[in-house]
Amino acid sequence: MAEVAMSRKMRINHSHRVRGALQTPGDKSISHRALIFTSIARGTSRIEGLATSNDCRATLECIRRLGIEVEERDSSLIVHGKGLRGYRQPSTSLDAGNSGSTIRMLSGLVAAQPFTTVIDGDESLRRRPMARIIEPLEMMGARVEARDGRFAPIKIGGAQLKAINYTSRVPSAQIKSCVLLAALCAEGRTTFREPAPSRNHTELMLAEFGARFSETNGEMTVEGGTELKAINYRVPGDPSSAAFFVAAATLLKDSEIVIRGVALNPSRTAFLDVMTNLGAKIERENLSVRHGEAVGDLRVTTAELRSERQATVIAGSMIPNLIDEIPILAVIGSQMEGRLEIRDAAELRVKESDRIRTICDGIRAMGGEIEEFEDGFAINGSQPLTGGTITTAGDHRIAMAFSVAGLVAAGATEIEDADCAAVSFPDFYRVLGDAAGEGAIDEIA
Ligand code: S3P
Repeated sequence: MAEVAMSRKMRINHSHRVRGALQTPGDKSISHRALIFTSIARGTSRIEGLATSNDCRATLECIRRLGIEVEERDSSLIVHGKGLRGYRQPSTSLDAGNSGSTIRMLSGLVAAQPFTTVIDGDESLRRRPMARIIEPLEMMGARVEARDGRFAPIKIGGAQLKAINYTSRVPSAQIKSCVLLAALCAEGRTTFREPAPSRNHTELMLAEFGARFSETNGEMTVEGGTELKAINYRVPGDPSSAAFFVAAATLLKDSEIVIRGVALNPSRTAFLDVMTNLGAKIERENLSVRHGEAVGDLRVTTAELRSERQATVIAGSMIPNLIDEIPILAVIGSQMEGRLEIRDAAELRVKESDRIRTICDGIRAMGGEIEEFEDGFAINGSQPLTGGTITTAGDHRIAMAFSVAGLVAAGATEIEDADCAAVSFPDFYRVLGDAAGEGAIDEIA
């Protein structure tokens, strides 16, 4: 009988500090893209610092199944790219696992190959919306079949794509990347616009790998048919993973940490800006720019957080820039002085879990109060959290956000299905445990 791997349960105890220097894994968004771009470039590229998380492993296995040779050498990867139409038909369906980035971005590329590919994923991914990429791909001439017309598994490919002029209704970097990648293989010049700026790693990589790409006033254009050049790419640390440590160091009373080599691309730093406005002490050090991406160290020390107004409201165009940090912002909201309100974030309902629901459940499980809206939540600060049992719904960011809440809370917190953190941060509990000191984190099952 096949062995079923059991996910661990972790117990998090109160701690008065996190200390030391640490590194977060390679940025998840940049890692997916580095794998995808090197796989369609012509020639051999090296990637250093790639995330080894489950999501990025899924992309790696998918491009291997598409016939791309990838060698794992020391701590880097050597990718033998075969050009824009170099993929080979996989013998069975591709497994994107839990990863929306993998299925949405790869769909754009396999749509243009002269064969059909089926891409599937886990239960959570099968519930997430795919019409948002199917619509523009079909406009480009792609042949797509999806379950109920809008869910994975998706069967796609076998068409010559043509350029489109497209405005997305959702500010989503995954939709944008899907269309811009498909545009590389399409005939003609594709134009893309989004309702609010989302993370721009794909745009930076298009320029870095030599695509004919330009952007003026938020309007992006890609000329199809230009082959990309192979390059050596070093992935910076993940700011969304760093956010958990920034929050812990700010909230726990005797803390100082340095997080080295973090991606500080301005389309990813709204969380740091919100924290700074609330009074957090975050210094950026050793700043540089690599492959167009800003990188630096973060030094964070304990601080009292206070809303300048009666309520700090995060809404509108700020949301895409901190969408992945909202679970940890809820924990911040419960501890700061004042009220925190998140609005215009209905996208959270279609992430790895319904994050508005799982955030509210988590806060309540720890003895806190939170008001749920269709597109966000409101939470009053200065709430004593008591600890409790957190059902993660298999969502990595919920597991990690409530681990930090567990360090803050007076009693013990149990994180069920704790291993889901490996979706973006395989070593999370060890790194957090080292920083929080002995006895802060134990495995209990
Ligand atoms: C990502 C974009 C975001 C984010 C996800 C990664 C990316 O999703 O939530 O974790 O790498 O492009 P959307 O673009 O769908 O909002």
